[in-house]
Amino acid sequence: MKNALIIGATSGIGKELAKLLVADNYKVVITGRREKLLQQIKETNPNKYIVKIQDITNLKSCEVLFSELENELKTIDLIVFSSGVGNPNYKLEWDKEFPILQTNVIAATKIYGLAYNLFRKQGYGHLVGISSIASIRGNRHVPAYFASKAFQANYLESLWMKGKRSKANIIVTDIQPGFVDTSMAIGKTFWMSTTEKATKQIYRAIKKKKKKAYITKRWWLVALLLKNVPSLLLQKFL
Ligand SMILES: NC(=O)c1ccc[n+]([C@@H]2O[C@H](COP(=O)([O-])OP(=O)(O)OC[C@H]3O[C@@H](n4cnc5c(N)ncnc54)[C@H](OP(=O)(O)O)[C@@H]3O)[C@@H](O)[C@H]2O)c1
Repeated sequence: MKNALIIGATSGIGKELAKLLVADNYKVVITGRREKLLQQIKETNPNKYIVKIQDITNLKSCEVLFSELENELKTIDLIVFSSGVGNPNYKLEWDKEFPILQTNVIAATKIYGLAYNLFRKQGYGHLVGISSIASIRGNRHVPAYFASKAFQANYLESLWMKGKRSKANIIVTDIQPGFVDTSMAIGKTFWMSTTEKATKQIYRAIKKKKKKAYITKRWWLVALLLKNVPSLLLQKFL
C-alpha cells in the first residue's frame, strides 16, 4: 500500500482527491484546521485515513507534522498541497492581504520544502501543488491571491527543475484549475467544473506524472489567451 499526504483535505479538491486515492488503495493522511470534518471523512473508511489537525500558518507545526509522519509511516509516496485562501480586496487592506500571503506563500513554501527534502532523503516521491489559472496574470480585485498563485507556479517549476537534476526520483506537478465548484469559487461563472470532474482530471494528471495540467482540460485555451492578451485590454476584464 502506498502512502499519501494531503495538506488541506477538509473540503473541496483535497477532500475529493483523498477519496480517489483511498479507492486506489492508498493510505491517506488528511490535514486541515476543521477537526470535525476530518473525523467525518475518516469514519467513511477508518483504516485508510489518518487525521492530523493542523494550521499550516503555524510553521513549527509543519515541521512537527513531517517528523511525526516519518516515524509513523516511514515513507510517503505522494504529497499534495491543496490548502489555500483568497478573497477580493478592493481597498487594498493589509489585514486582508496578509493571511493570503501567510497561507499561499509562506506556509506553501514551508510545506514544499519539507516535502522535497523528505523525498530527497527517501530517494523518491511525487509533490503536487494546486496553483491556479490565476497564476498567469494579475487581477486588480484580488491582487494577493493572483500574485500568490504566480509565486506557487514559479516555485513548483523550480522544484521540478531541481527534481530533474536530482539523483533521487522526484516528480513535481503543478495543477492549474480554472473555476471549480468549491467554497473557494465565488458565485456562478463560466466553465465551472464540479469538484468530482475536476478532481478526476487532477488524479489522471498525477498518475501521468505531468509537469503541469490545466483543470478542466479546456482551460488551456484561457491560459493561452491570458499569456498573450495585452495588459491594456486585460485591465478592462480582470
Ligand atoms: N475552487 C476553485 O475554483 C479553484 C481554482 C483555482 C485554484 N484553486 C485552488 O485549489 C486549492 C483547494 O481549494 P478548494 O477549491 O478545494 O477550496 P476549499 O474547499 O476552500 O479548500 C481549501 C482547503 O485549504 C485548507 N486551509 C486553508 N487555510 C488553511 C490553514 N491555515 N491551515 C491548513 N489548511 C488550510 C482548508 O482547510 P481548513 O479550513 O479546515 O483549515 C481546506 O481544506 C486552493 O489552493 C485554491 O487556491 C481553487
